[in-house]
Amino acid sequence: MRPPIPLLILLYVTLSRSMKTVSKRGSVDGCTDWSVDYLKYRVLKGEPVRLKCALFYGYIRANYSQAQSVGLSLMWYRSSGLGHGDFEEPISFDGVRMSKEEDAIWFRPADLQDVGLYSCVLRNSSYCMKVSMSLYVAENDTDLCYNSVMRHTEKAELSKSKDITCPDIEDYIEPGKDPDITWFKECRPKQWRASVLQRRDTLSIREVKEDDIGNYTCEVTFRGLRRTPDHRAHCHRPHRRAGMVML
Ligand SMILES: *[C@@H]1O[C@H](CO)[C@@H](O)[C@H](O)[C@H]1NC(C)=O
Ligand SMILES: *[C@@H]1O[C@H](CO)[C@@H](O)[C@H](O)[C@H]1NC(C)=O
Ligand SMILES: *[C@@H]1O[C@H](CO)[C@@H](O)[C@H](O)[C@H]1NC(C)=O
Ligand SMILES: *[C@@H]1O[C@H](CO)[C@@H](O)[C@H](O)[C@H]1NC(C)=O
Repeated sequence: MRPPIPLLILLYVTLSRSMKTVSKRGSVDGCTDWSVDYLKYRVLKGEPVRLKCALFYGYIRANYSQAQSVGLSLMWYRSSGLGHGDFEEPISFDGVRMSKEEDAIWFRPADLQDVGLYSCVLRNSSYCMKVSMSLYVAENDTDLCYNSVMRHTEKAELSKSKDITCPDIEDYIEPGKDPDITWFKECRPKQWRASVLQRRDTLSIREVKEDDIGNYTCEVTFRGLRRTPDHRAHCHRPHRRAGMVML
């Protein structure tokens, strides 16, 4: 009997979420600035991404429609640097590649030039709240379908079971529907053996074998909120990816 060897699983992650221990940065021009949110958006060039105004997810009670119904307006600004306090410019949306939809900005798809800090400001004449989100766009590694820096690390043991979950895809699943996910190994489609099950967003390997070592990627196909042919063309792009490797 060989002792179980730990395997290292690398999952490509596009969003990293950590505990929201925010501190109020300060008040500029009567606007309460919550500084930069902990949720970082990371995508590959060519992938769509939906960047949501974090104010509605942990800073204030109201959701976007409630805020809108009491007359608050939401504006977006961008600074191309990733440092808080860099010069911010209002965003002009072309409505095609980059559009404002409810409390979010959609990039269909993201491009390297989109890297930066995005600030959403919710205000009326007497009230103003602001928070910023960072977006990082990277290219895939040469001849690979992922960027190694964006991989996610996990461990598994030989002959034990291991579930790999396609990370951070909640925003790209239509409500009430199962996600449309394809798993790849070393960036190629694979005929999985019978004991490897794909359920919803998870690939379950019942008994991890040495042969399972490697880089896994998952792709999510989804449809955008808008149904114009133009958008559909952009939205049927793969989204999330994951990897697994033994070191
Ligand atoms: C916003 O919140 C209200 C009240 O909690 C709820 O009825 C409504 O469905 C929410 N809207 C959205 C778009 O989530
Ligand atoms: C601005 O919004 C705040 C929060 O919703 C509200 O309490 C206040 O009455 C509003 N002020 C005006 C002038 O509408
Ligand atoms: C990697 O990126 C290049 C340039 O964006 C693209 O042409 C190529 O198809 C990508 N490779 C894979 C395997 O996805
Ligand atoms: C996983 O990918 C890395 C490059 O990102 C490569 O060096 C390594 O050989 C791959 N692992 C396997 C088992 O193919």
